[in-house]
Amino acid sequence: MSTTPESSELLSSTSGPSEHGGSGAGSATPLLSLRGISKNFGAVQAIQGVNLDIAPGKVTALIGDNGAGKSVLIKTISGIWEPSGGHMYWKGEEIHVHTPRNAAALGIATVYQDLALCDNLDIVQNMYLGREETKFSMLDEIKMELATNQLLRDLSVSTVKSVRQIVASLSGGQRQAIAVARAVMHDSQLVIMDEPTAALGVTQTAQVLQLIRTLAARGITVLVISHNLNDVFSVADNIAVMHLGTLCSSGPASNYDTASAVELITTGHSSRVASTLLPSS
Ligand SMILES: Nc1ncnc2c1ncn2[C@@H]1O[C@H](COP(=O)(O)OP(=O)(O)O)[C@@H](O)[C@H]1O
Ligand SMILES: [Mg+2]
Repeated sequence: MSTTPESSELLSSTSGPSEHGGSGAGSATPLLSLRGISKNFGAVQAIQGVNLDIAPGKVTALIGDNGAGKSVLIKTISGIWEPSGGHMYWKGEEIHVHTPRNAAALGIATVYQDLALCDNLDIVQNMYLGREETKFSMLDEIKMELATNQLLRDLSVSTVKSVRQIVASLSGGQRQAIAVARAVMHDSQLVIMDEPTAALGVTQTAQVLQLIRTLAARGITVLVISHNLNDVFSVADNIAVMHLGTLCSSGPASNYDTASAVELITTGHSSRVASTLLPSS
């Protein structure tokens, strides 16, 4: 979990976001703070002025209607898009994330909807794709297999029969679990998941939600996009709502209920939720 040379290069000496206002989610320094983040594609303003604190070791659910800007926001955090404006802070230090490599070096891992697993390879091969362990210039299959088994045990992923199973043979929930396990394998501190339960049945959804809670219990911070408010309320410590490209509300999940969340998603405001918006600088 130490700061790697590569990640320290991404940190600049600029001081963090102002302390006033607080996050409404405890007083610990946020793992990640966004201030005034915007992204436009030519004339299309996809997101604008997003202020958000991600509390360490907590599950934050990002909700909003289709086209609200959720995916653009996480792609900006993950280094796929460079923000058109605004500032990002990692543990209080300003960061400049230009590429997914930069984000990975900080400990930000993103699991996208397509999961990007190789169907024709087994679980161990997928876990180590592109960063295989070697011994005497040979693949160290035993080490990789033991580590994969240990990680799946640590994450309480118990439904996989063998880590030598071909990924094509896994269920949707198991594939999601493998994609998450791969994301957390390399000292990830923030795991971002885009609609992890969208294609899953009831049992598999429950397993993925359990996995999200396991990550948080292990001190890993989770930012999860979900359409399903039942999932959101069962798993999230904090909620952030996007509406038409802006972040319209954020705070502890206990501040919200289904009715107020739906109101925020559809109209961008709710008289039933105390305003917890952060100042922009
Ligand atoms: N690569 C892109 N080029 C142009 N516009 C985009 C691009 N990606 C997203 N957008 C626009 O940004 C807005 C937010 O999209 P998105 O973040 O995907 O929404 P969602 O909340 O459903 O994930 C939409 O209006 C979308 O059309
Ligand atoms: Mg999306």
